[in-house]
Amino acid sequence: MSFVLLQTANGIAEIVINKPETLNALNSLILNELEKVINNISKDDDIKLVIITGQGSKSFAAGADINEMKDLNPQQAREFSRFGHTVFKTIENLQQITIAAINGYALGGGLELALACDLRTASKTAKFGLPEVSLGITPGYGGTQRLQRIVGMSHAKEMIFTGEMIDANEAYRIGLVNKVYEQDELLPCTRLLAQKILSNSMSAVSLAKASINYGIQCGLDSACQYETEIFSLCFSTRDRIEGINAFIEKRKPQFGN
Ligand code: COA
Repeated sequence: MSFVLLQTANGIAEIVINKPETLNALNSLILNELEKVINNISKDDDIKLVIITGQGSKSFAAGADINEMKDLNPQQAREFSRFGHTVFKTIENLQQITIAAINGYALGGGLELALACDLRTASKTAKFGLPEVSLGITPGYGGTQRLQRIVGMSHAKEMIFTGEMIDANEAYRIGLVNKVYEQDELLPCTRLLAQKILSNSMSAVSLAKASINYGIQCGLDSACQYETEIFSLCFSTRDRIEGINAFIEKRKPQFGN
């Protein structure tokens, strides 16, 4: 496992895409390793939050590997896209919270990886884009779908149709990233954000994630029904008893995270 590094501590897993010589472009080897790491994390109840970043100071991930796409026929391209979708869907549906800490270029498949995460933090030097149309192709790992759900159709169409990169300020302005930090502060500040989330009941945070993710895919009536079920489920947890009692007793809650 050399192209995807994993470190875990205090309930947080940090994944580093590690092929800086090709700007961490996502080749099939990396995607395979990433899938294995994510599948293991999904079964690890001790991990509550996942941070994904890229090795080096230049790039988060500069896309899917263009060399691998060069000779694909339509059938192979379908499989290529399907596999990326499978990995990114697993990331999106993790019960753990995911944060992409974007340390440089997040282009094509690299941006699509970040879009599959719950939150995105970025260094001031980060650059974002879906340049696929400049290669005569369309985004194939969720870019035409998740980007518009995050920034709205108008900004998504502009980014996809022009293929141009935007900087971190613009990404923040349109809601593509949650926070922008100095390059050397990106990981420390992202860890602080993670700690802030972890100070809450992670069973509640995880259920809220499930409700948000389900709701974005269906109509408001079904989404609100689902929310009601999720809310009701919270009332079977110890964290609910502890959280509400702690408020009433004017003390800090001790959640079972
Ligand atoms: N797939 C395969 N290799 C890639 C890659 C990708 N998506 N992105 C970068 N690389 C490789 C380059 O080919 C180069 O390899 P080499 O040293 O063997 O020639 C190496 O990474 C460094 O990239 P380079 O282009 O020299 O760096 P740069 O600073 O001049 O430019 C970018 C940086 C990101 C602007 C440029 O690499 C780029 O446009 N990459 C492709 C982005 C893209 O279209 N992604 C979407 C793919 S669907």
